Amino acid sequence: MAGMSLAGVEKKAQNRIMNTAKNEVKLGENQPSIPQVTDWVKEIADLTQPDAIFWCDGSEKEDKLMRDRIVESGAGLWLNADKRPNSLLVRSDPRDVARVEERTFICCKSKKDAGPTNNWREPSIMKAKLNGLLQGCMKGRTLYVIPFSMGPVGSPIAQYGIEISDSPYVVANMRTMTRMGSKVYDEIAKTGNFVKCLHSVGSPLAEGKQDFPWPCDPENTYVTHFPEERLIISYGSGYGGNALLGKKCFALRIASAMGRDEGWMAEHMLILGVKDPKGEKTYVTAAFPSACGKTNFAMIIPPKHLKEEGWEVSCVGDDIAWIKPGPDGWLRAINPEAGFFGVAPGTSYDSNPMAMDSIKRDTIFTNVALTDDGDIWWEGMTKEAPAHLIDWKGKDWTPNQKDGEGKPVLSSHPNSRFTAPAQNCPIIDPDWENPEGVRISAMIFGGRRATTMPLIFQAFNWVHGVYLGATVGSEMTAAAAGTIGQVRRDPMAMLPFCGYDMGDYFAHWLEMRCLVKHVPRVFHVNWFRKSSEGKFLWPGFGDNMRVLKWIVQRCQHGAHALETSIGWVPEYPDLDLKGLESMTPEKFEELQKIDPSEWHRELVLQDELFMKLYSHLPKELVFQRELLISRL
Ligand code: OXD
Ligand code: MN
Repeated sequence: MAGMSLAGVEKKAQNRIMNTAKNEVKLGENQPSIPQVTDWVKEIADLTQPDAIFWCDGSEKEDKLMRDRIVESGAGLWLNADKRPNSLLVRSDPRDVARVEERTFICCKSKKDAGPTNNWREPSIMKAKLNGLLQGCMKGRTLYVIPFSMGPVGSPIAQYGIEISDSPYVVANMRTMTRMGSKVYDEIAKTGNFVKCLHSVGSPLAEGKQDFPWPCDPENTYVTHFPEERLIISYGSGYGGNALLGKKCFALRIASAMGRDEGWMAEHMLILGVKDPKGEKTYVTAAFPSACGKTNFAMIIPPKHLKEEGWEVSCVGDDIAWIKPGPDGWLRAINPEAGFFGVAPGTSYDSNPMAMDSIKRDTIFTNVALTDDGDIWWEGMTKEAPAHLIDWKGKDWTPNQKDGEGKPVLSSHPNSRFTAPAQNCPIIDPDWENPEGVRISAMIFGGRRATTMPLIFQAFNWVHGVYLGATVGSEMTAAAAGTIGQVRRDPMAMLPFCGYDMGDYFAHWLEMRCLVKHVPRVFHVNWFRKSSEGKFLWPGFGDNMRVLKWIVQRCQHGAHALETSIGWVPEYPDLDLKGLESMTPEKFEELQKIDPSEWHRELVLQDELFMKLYSHLPKELVFQRELLISRL
């Protein structure tokens, strides 16, 4: 907008409002006749006082309109259609760039149900606060009604929601990340039940006033969950998990509470399928805390010799799994999402070619850099940076640019994202939309540990596996040369996402054992162990497939393993190390070493978590820890 006079800008904003109003009449006719829905929308419209109500139908035409609105508002621009067809680059307010855990609340009646790891507020107190903020908060804006399904519509594992939002960016992202559209109303009509998701950017627009490109209210941001009412209210942020309420808020925090009540599980897990050379398919889920390469693992490309032998990996999901006992006695999993909301920096044809192919078109990029030919770039996409870019703040950028303190200026925000349809992924699993879900044979837990944890070991049984998941952690300080840093525990990678008490959550995991005949095997991996010289011992990336192969073979035919004090482990000949010349028996031993002194320290460190959760901690887990102490 540089160069445009203020009067011109205001005129444009006014035109936009008028255009908006015109469109409401034309496209606002998809109102369902479900009183539970229409009454709620009316109640929220009375409170928030939007200029117009837009009932979304999920059509392509509507999606185009939303993308046009994002561009008109000044928040986004169309990328070069030859290079990235149907794709946008959006820039957020620099104060609104990530999930805000300190402003995320679980609002159940009793504080002890939220547990010691969640921020808790009494529901009526939080609602009073929110009502004050929501009063008139959509003035000058359009209220969009977004019906969506988490999971294939009609699946016995799917759940339905309606998000009310005043952000066209949210509408466009929800269309990619969920199954959105009028067909969802047919399912809601059967029961009248749906999860209510209310979102506002928290920036009412006075008449004729120029809008901000990215309206938000960072000082008053609240991301609140009312699990007893299946209700989410999010105010003040337009970014990611704060605003796309189907994702972390619904599919993890609210769904974890639903799963506890109804006998299923909502987990922060990727799902992938492995086809062996005989054509047998095995599905596994995996939970890793943030920044452990989850999306890369979900789309792993096997090393050349394994590909030639006929091993294939396919992706069902990269972030969330809903897992339910099926009529066949297996745990069945679906990916409740329909797209990837992936971290951009570091994604490249080396680290994740399938993600790169998934974002070739139909993608919304947020807070990455713009190239001179209208395409996108971020740190790590290519070895060499382009000579000139427009950075995520809209400023000129050249390589080696330094800020006032002499630190390199990043072209893209570290939490910049791509929103891409899952069906764009070349290795999306043929059963990824199977309403029955896929059969889960194994569950993998892992953290980022420089010491203590071997590359791979297998739990003795389900209870031991739950103990492994419960004690997952990552070292907070880089333990360069074999010294152990503080370990940040992130049980099942769910610490920020569990909608109720963590101890009760572990109990629920233990109870799931009684609901299925075929219990998944549980494994623990660590791609990040370092040598005493501080070097990574395992190459990672595609070579993680070698570990996955052993896991799958353990599930299928019981590949060989050795019983140790911490679990079952592969011996040197058990792991396919073909072509990995550097992995000598000595190095393998270092990688798999069970060092009693490191483990004693680990057990002491676990105490902190156990003490924190003590009042609801299942005794089985305390017992597992004691057993381990005695075995060691
Ligand atoms: C995510 C996260 O954004 O786990 O997926 O933080
Ligand atoms: Mn995640």
